Amino acid sequence: MTESSRPPTASVGTTSTGAQPFDKRRMSLLWAVQSHAADIARLHAQLFPSAWDEASVARLLAHPGSVALVAAQGNPSEVGGFALAQIAADEAEILTLGVTEGWRRQGVGQQLVGGIVRAAGRAGANALFLEVAASNAAARALYARAGFAEAGRRIGYYQRQGAAAEDAIVLKIDLPAAAAT
Ligand SMILES: CC(C)(COP(=O)(O)OP(=O)(O)OC[C@H]1O[C@@H](n2cnc3c(N)ncnc32)[C@H](O)[C@@H]1OP(=O)(O)O)[C@@H](O)C(=O)NCCC(=O)NCCS
Repeated sequence: MTESSRPPTASVGTTSTGAQPFDKRRMSLLWAVQSHAADIARLHAQLFPSAWDEASVARLLAHPGSVALVAAQGNPSEVGGFALAQIAADEAEILTLGVTEGWRRQGVGQQLVGGIVRAAGRAGANALFLEVAASNAAARALYARAGFAEAGRRIGYYQRQGAAAEDAIVLKIDLPAAAAT
């Protein structure tokens, strides 16, 4: 579901103006909590065609199987990246992940994915899945580098108004070994 075309089923007071230039040394990965819901929803709306509202993100964060991280810097903290995943039985799924444009190509996405891999592995999941649009070269490169492998394809999975439907590639990583690294 990571292209976020479907609505979700499922710290610290933050502000995010996008005003601070990205500084890798000041960036931290934090567990996402309810007070991050507004920032995550705002960033999500910037990055994906179908927005998840704050209430949907808050519901997702409150779900007992939720594993969620934000990348933040500064005080008050500015959120520039997020990753939301869910664990059900022994499988986990990344539901959505994104990094704001000014923070890209500096390892933030990689850190978010690595954090979710470790957290899901420690929570007992055996495998982590996600779906990515076939045309999303940046995300596919990121996940390939993190060790994900193609596990299937959902034909015409992403339906967008005014555009042709697009296939989703299902990616998978086996966790116990990956999470230990
Ligand atoms: C995909 C995304 C999360 C990557 O975030 P990022 O912080 O820029 O990623 P990183 O800097 O950690 O990149 C790690 C590696 O992924 C690959 N990668 C990332 N962006 C890439 C791009 N635009 N083109 C090619 N490879 C890319 C590279 O191998 C990169 O390593 P390198 O910079 O040393 O070459 C970001 O582009 C984004 O938010 N895109 C819009 C939302 C989205 O598509 N989310 C994923 C839905 S499945």
